[in-house]
Amino acid sequence: MAIRLGDMAPDFEADTTQGKLKFHEWLGSSWGVLFSHPKDFTPVCTTELGTVAKLKPEFDKRNVKVAGLSVDSVVDHERWAGDIQETQGAALNFPLIGDPDRKVSNLYDMIHPNASDTLTVRSVFIIGPDKKVKLSLTYPASTGRNFDEILRVIDSLQLTANHQVATPANWKDGEDCIIVTSLSDADAKGKFPKGWKTLKPYLRVTPQPNK
Ligand code: BEZ
Repeated sequence: MAIRLGDMAPDFEADTTQGKLKFHEWLGSSWGVLFSHPKDFTPVCTTELGTVAKLKPEFDKRNVKVAGLSVDSVVDHERWAGDIQETQGAALNFPLIGDPDRKVSNLYDMIHPNASDTLTVRSVFIIGPDKKVKLSLTYPASTGRNFDEILRVIDSLQLTANHQVATPANWKDGEDCIIVTSLSDADAKGKFPKGWKTLKPYLRVTPQPNK
């Protein structure tokens, strides 16, 4: 079944390059990113895993645990890891789930039969500390993902979880935000001491509140 925003991220146990992983227990109180790969020893996936390995300090800074998945076995992943390190200049530093029986792929609806019967698409799930799905993305096999965009969304999710703001198109951490429309001007006064600009009654722009 499709997983929708706000749903509980399904729990599972799986073998990974870092040993057995019980997903919810492993997440603990952290945020999480789970992302799938169509197959081992494929070029785009190789670049993606190297990119995420290099970005690991950025995920750590945001209290986000990352796990990849590919439908091949952990034994294959371990052989592939050498190629990733050699070609991308970064060693796998997060768990890569082996899913030869497609248990996790099916649980997360990562196989789209009209794209391929056997390979997962490039899915991304961002999961909050409450274990609920906050974002899902689906890319085709031929297009590598933009992991800076995943970090950007995490910045927005973590900001909007704690402040009554939303973030505008192409927003980046440190830029102006939008005060949520459910907050009256009177209530906004106490919460946004730096003030705001009213472009329309429904569009009030304020400096990022946690900066
Ligand atoms: C790749 O990672 O390059 C890839 C994987 C499966 C199908 C097409 C491309």
